[in-house]
Amino acid sequence: MNIFNKKSELKDFLNSVSKGKKIGFVPTMGALHKGHLSLLEKSLQENELTVLSIFVNPTQFNNLEDLEKYPRTLEKDIDLVQKLSESIIVFNPSIDDIYEGNTKSSNFVYDGLENQMEGKQRPGHFDGVGTILTKLFEIVKPFQAYFGEKDFQQLQIVKKLVEKQNILTKIIGCPIFREDNGLAMSSRNERLSQNAREEASIIYKILKKAKLFFENHSTEETIDFVKNEFLNHPNFELEYFEIADEETLLPCKNKVENKNYRGFIAVFIENIRLIDNISMK
Ligand code: PAJ
Repeated sequence: MNIFNKKSELKDFLNSVSKGKKIGFVPTMGALHKGHLSLLEKSLQENELTVLSIFVNPTQFNNLEDLEKYPRTLEKDIDLVQKLSESIIVFNPSIDDIYEGNTKSSNFVYDGLENQMEGKQRPGHFDGVGTILTKLFEIVKPFQAYFGEKDFQQLQIVKKLVEKQNILTKIIGCPIFREDNGLAMSSRNERLSQNAREEASIIYKILKKAKLFFENHSTEETIDFVKNEFLNHPNFELEYFEIADEETLLPCKNKVENKNYRGFIAVFIENIRLIDNISMK
């Protein structure tokens, strides 16, 4: 398997092998799980070359502790990728190689998508995401890039990023991959105790109940319903539950027939922040 730590070496390699071949790209921060692997599988099916990046991007963390504690499991990651396909090209650069001594974000405007939910709760987060992805797209020059609906706001923002920056890459959204108990797979799940990981299955259960409830209740009533559900689970702290328009991410005030809405949630358990979402259609 080809593993590169330097962007210059990856670029040289891609120049020599790509020859007009379609490159699929899966950017990640590592601690790979089946959710990440599902993106890789799709890329392998739909492209002639697949590049996976593993890079814990410091500029998108608004919380130093979260950055320091972010799981780093490179050997295990490489093992998993190798089992999936020897042909996957892995890019695992250092911070210096990527940022060249200037670990700062640029500012991005994504037509207001950045001001909702995760953007509100994690100031600067989407500037960091835009900064790293602009750099990675420039290095890899992918035909298509794969992003999970697990981070639905990020997916919409990346679509807006390529549109605004005239990046030719096509952005492909992929469904949320869940544990058997319904918990959305996440690298942060690794930091949960076994008990919390079990109990966290209630997040998706509550989202599914909220979806049913929303069929004949208002947004406000549904938000209250979710808040109430969490009262039965004192180990959880609900940061937000919002129902928003999938396109604009603006909160749904009054339901409009032909719009697609999604319920978005962020909760803390054992001081770990988990996010999830569900289509409310
Ligand atoms: P990371 O959290 O490692 O996620 C990498 C990709 O995997 C993202 O597109 C994310 O939405 C997707 N993913 C994570 N869990 C998933 C699940 N359970 N089902 C389906 N897809 C899932 O997101 C990032 O990294 C970073 O912000 C990044 C885009 C790499 C920029 O640094």
